[in-house]
Amino acid sequence: MANNKSARTPDPAEAPRPIISVLHGPNLNMLGARDPEVYGKHTLAEIEHLARTRGEMLGLVAEFFQTNHEGELIDAVQDAAQNADGIVINPGALTHYSRALGDALDATSKPKVEVHLSNIYARDEWRRTSVTSPYVTAVIAGFSTMGYVFAMDSMAGFISSSRP
Ligand code: DQA
Repeated sequence: MANNKSARTPDPAEAPRPIISVLHGPNLNMLGARDPEVYGKHTLAEIEHLARTRGEMLGLVAEFFQTNHEGELIDAVQDAAQNADGIVINPGALTHYSRALGDALDATSKPKVEVHLSNIYARDEWRRTSVTSPYVTAVIAGFSTMGYVFAMDSMAGFISSSRP
């Protein structure tokens, strides 16, 4: 029998699944123990499980990275700009002062969602400024762990609307 595999119509279900790089900055490794009344009781591993599961439902592959070091987070953004289809980032306190991280985000036109567990606009004065949000597609703040679910939902929307 002739092998007509190359002639068949491509099945979208077989297309490679978009990769979403989910990046966490300083002190987010302490979630669960750190100010649970502000950041909730879930650990970072639990949040990652939630985001991974939601991503799978949406046909996305979530990859995770956390660091307490500004330069490593910038390296991770640069790496994701090359190798991922979208970035979800909670930069922690770097949100409020890292112009270098803002520049790294600005350098990629891939969809980017900034997530904060807490509502940074309802907290200390210094937390109300984000120097990174001008360089992302959307910001989600104040939804606690659900913010990561919404971020994956947003990513699926941004990626599908950018496809021909
Ligand atoms: C945070 C808010 C920041 O102000 C803080 O420094 C964090 C966490 C949040 O998720 O609410 O580390 O980004």
